[in-house]
Amino acid sequence: MVYIDLHAHILPGLDDGPQTLEESLKMARMALSQGFNKVVATPHVVEGIYENKKELILEKTRELQESLKRENIPLEVMPGSEIHISDNILKLWEKDQLLTINNSGKYILLELPHFQPIPLNLKELIFTLSLKGVRTIIPHPERNISIQADPNILIPLIGQGALIQCTLSSINGHFGEKVQKTVEILIRHRMVHLLATDMHNTGGRLKDVVRTMKRAEGLMGKEVIRPMITSFPELILKGRAIETPEPRYYQPQNPVGVLRSLFQRLFTPGGQDKSRGM
Ligand SMILES: [Fe+2]
Repeated sequence: MVYIDLHAHILPGLDDGPQTLEESLKMARMALSQGFNKVVATPHVVEGIYENKKELILEKTRELQESLKRENIPLEVMPGSEIHISDNILKLWEKDQLLTINNSGKYILLELPHFQPIPLNLKELIFTLSLKGVRTIIPHPERNISIQADPNILIPLIGQGALIQCTLSSINGHFGEKVQKTVEILIRHRMVHLLATDMHNTGGRLKDVVRTMKRAEGLMGKEVIRPMITSFPELILKGRAIETPEPRYYQPQNPVGVLRSLFQRLFTPGGQDKSRGM
């Protein structure tokens, strides 16, 4: 089975990923050994912290690809970025300064804050971007505290066209029990569309992919899980549309969760939206 990794910090010296080319090449060899033949390089873009410009990422991706060829490592690397959500996203988009997945202009990876609530205007932002022809991918929502408290927050966002990408190693418990439980809920309720490593180094996120996939397939079956790391990423690389299933509401077991879920369903604008393809 050949996998495609849509989210990887593999370019050297741009963010909190590898700092040297040697380390990047080591990660590439590991990715191959785990079954990947294509990886999208998605360095962080965070204002004031990681000011990685589009041209720089494109150039660094080309350089890494050349090094891989020189070293006879048969891994294809494509350009992308993981853009931290800020108020400037639309302005930057208008100025053509945001790098989409594989530079196709069709899919953008927008990172949520981990330890803060979901931005209030996120649904509107996803909608506005969709009007401009670009579909939002939200990476690792299972690590966000608001979504851990109420996974149903994702439903109106999915209804607006957002794709949800979870981290593979969240499934095997790499980020702890809370994250693992959340990702399981999201998978079981059809709120996940893509799986990726989000690798930053040669550590735990890049290990046991086969075993992790088995675990995920145990939750929802091969026919649901496999496309998340094969055919869906392939369509995204080509800038083609993806049809997504309708998500199901999660019914929490504890009384606080039940009330929160009820509130979300009744009072969130668009909370009853159906998911759709693009
Ligand atoms: Fe990332």
